[in-house]
Formats: sequence, C-alpha cells, structure tokens
Amino acid sequence: MNSSAMNHQHLSNRIINMGESATLKMAQLARELTAQGHKIISLSLGEPDFDTPDHIKKAAIKALEDGFTKYTPVAGLLELRQAICTKLERDNKLSYKATQIVVSNGAKQSIANLSMSLLQEGDEAIVLSPYWVSYKEIVELSGASCVFVKGSIEQDFKANAEQIKAAISDKTRMLIFSSPCNPTGSVFTREELKAIADVIAQHPQITIVSDEIYEYINFTGEAHVSIAEFENVKNQTVIVNGFSKGFSMTGWRLGYIAAPQWIADACVKMQGQFTSGAACFSQKAAAYALLSDMTPTFKMTEEFHKRRDLFVRLLSEVPGFKVNNPTGAFYVFPDVSAYYGKSFEDQKIENADDFCDYILYKGHVALVSGDAFGDPNCVRLSYSLGEDDLKEAVRRIAEAVSKLK
Ligand SMILES: Cc1ncc(COP(=O)(O)O)c(C=O)c1O
Repeated sequence: MNSSAMNHQHLSNRIINMGESATLKMAQLARELTAQGHKIISLSLGEPDFDTPDHIKKAAIKALEDGFTKYTPVAGLLELRQAICTKLERDNKLSYKATQIVVSNGAKQSIANLSMSLLQEGDEAIVLSPYWVSYKEIVELSGASCVFVKGSIEQDFKANAEQIKAAISDKTRMLIFSSPCNPTGSVFTREELKAIADVIAQHPQITIVSDEIYEYINFTGEAHVSIAEFENVKNQTVIVNGFSKGFSMTGWRLGYIAAPQWIADACVKMQGQFTSGAACFSQKAAAYALLSDMTPTFKMTEEFHKRRDLFVRLLSEVPGFKVNNPTGAFYVFPDVSAYYGKSFEDQKIENADDFCDYILYKGHVALVSGDAFGDPNCVRLSYSLGEDDLKEAVRRIAEAVSKLK
C-alpha cells in the first residue's frame, strides 16, 4: 500500500470530497515562480492592499495594555455587539437587539455556523451564481446540496427573482448570495432585491443569507441596500458582514451576523463547541472602528473606484475580453472564452484553468479561474494593486494573448 493510500484510510469522506481553494492554488503557483526569480503581478488577491487605519491599530494596542487578553462571551463582547446594532441603525436603518448579533472569527465562520445550524442531508441551498468559492464547499459540508441559479454576463451576472422562483423546491432551506458580489463586483438594486424578497416571503422555510461584506466598497452612488430592509423577509433574513474588507482588517479575523433570535442562538451554540468567542482585543478595536471616523474607509473606496475606471477601460481594449462594469468590491470578471481552442507553441487553451496557467507562465500575471466561482467562461482579476502594477499587468496580458492563434 502506498503512503497516500495509507493517509486516506484515516480521512473522512467529508474532507476527501472537499474542493481545494482555487485562489490558494494560484497563490502557491505564483510563489513558486517568484522563487525562481520571476516578477509576478498577482491579481488573485482577495484583500485590500491598504493597511488597517492607524486609529484602529491604536485601539487594539490600548486594549492589550488594558488587559483585554482573555476569553470573551461566545457571541462577542457586548460592547461590540452594541456597536454593531448602532451601525445597523445608522447605515442600514435596521433595528436589532444585541442578542441577535453573533460575532465570529471572520464572515467565513459566520457562514459556516449558519450552514451547520440550518442545513442537513436532503436539504437544498440556492446559491446565486457566480458565487464566492466557499459557499459551495461550506454548504456541502453540512450535507445539503447546492442549486445554482446563474446570472449571465448580459444580466450583469445577477440572477433574477423569476429564476430564483423556478429553482425553489420543497427541499429549499436557504438562499445565499453576496451584494456587492465576489467575484463579479455586481450590486443588486433596491428593485431587484425587493422582487427577490417578494418571492422568498412566500416560502417561510427559506432563510436568506445576505453576505454584505463588501457593503462599503460600492460605486453605485446610491446607499447600500440590504434585503433585510424589506419587512416581509426581515424575519427570514440573516445579514453577514465583517471587518476584513471595509476596514482592511483581513488578519484580525472578525465577522458577524444579524439574525432572527432563534438563528443567532443556534449559531452561538455551534460556535461554542468549535472556537468560542473571537479574539478579545480584535473585538475592542472593531467596536472602536465602527463608531469612529470612517474617512479611511471612504478614501479607500474612492481609490478603488478610480482603479476600477482605469482597469475596466484597459481590459476592455484587450481583444477577445468581454468585460462587465462592476459597481462594487474590487474584482472584474471578464469572459475570455473567445480564446478557448487557441494555442501558442505547445500550450492549448481549452478552458479558464488553462487560460490562467498560460497567463501565469507566459505573462507572469496571476488570475483566478472562473470555474471555481461557477462560470467557466470567465476569470477573476482583483484590482487590489497600485495603478502602475495594474497597467503593467494589462500590458502583459495583452501581449500574451496576442500570441494565441
Ligand atoms: C463574499 C465574501 N464573503 C465572505 C468572505 C470572508 O471574509 P472574512 O475574512 O470575514 O472571513 C469573503 C472573503 O474573501 C468574501 O469575498
């Protein structure tokens, strides 16, 4: 018996069947090429390139000095949960009690808590596609299956209420999506969300998981809209949000939900057995971040907006790229299928994975295949980089694809 077979003897089907993160795979390949001395431009990143604002760091340092270094309540410090309630009132006109807020080690854990608490074998979760990679794996880990409802590039990647209605069965227990969306940058309008709310309100057994982690990175010129604002689904909706993107705090590991009480209670029970409360001093700093000056967040968004304009303009000029115009987050999700079937030397492009490998090896730019996000015709490019790097990346991509015949 070879050693890998022996290892597998002890692994559960759960982990064997789990897909590997496409983003991490690309990061690993890019690291290998960098180690060989190549200058790789990475457009595969899922985090802002801005530092955490100083006043937030100082609040964490003060918290440490003041002795906030111990376990916290599983649901989070009351001070942070109250700050989140204040934020929800202030930014979203939504009223929640502190007991309805559960703070976790990142929004990713919030989604895992929800899936493990609400889904089981035989259930279905409707996932609006293109989707964030982890939704699929987390839903499937719970034993449930995903029903993907796809928004095409012509629909700005946004599945509509009619499509969602057609996908509902008596097994549907969850609808999950992000707006602004990773990977497409699309933002659902108030009208689109209202139409979806009107459909889901007819099915009280369905919980809407509304991932709003990119809330502040929005270039629509309109205020962010949460589907929880519609009274007919407020009691069926869980808002997922966090500090990673809007406050550039990816490494602080803090996310949260605002949920109906019975769901919040279930998530506390789940988290209590897995990880307990999130890091104490991170929570103190996050409470401060929510209630203090948000200028750094708004400045970062302005910068992303400028980069979006530049990047989308440059990418649209690359022959064969069909580019959407994202209105939020920091990703572009072009359709590159015009290159499928073409080759250069011994490299033939059959799909998005081949396209990304080709651009990495020939152009030294790291992208992520759209396959992992539910659209095999597309690739995801993050513009979480300075303008010079973005320009150079597009120049390299254009040169590499010009060789494909
Ligand atoms: C749509 C979406 N939801 C959730 C997360 C997870 O965020 P966190 O760092 O809070 O776990 C990400 C991170 O990339 C994301 O893109």
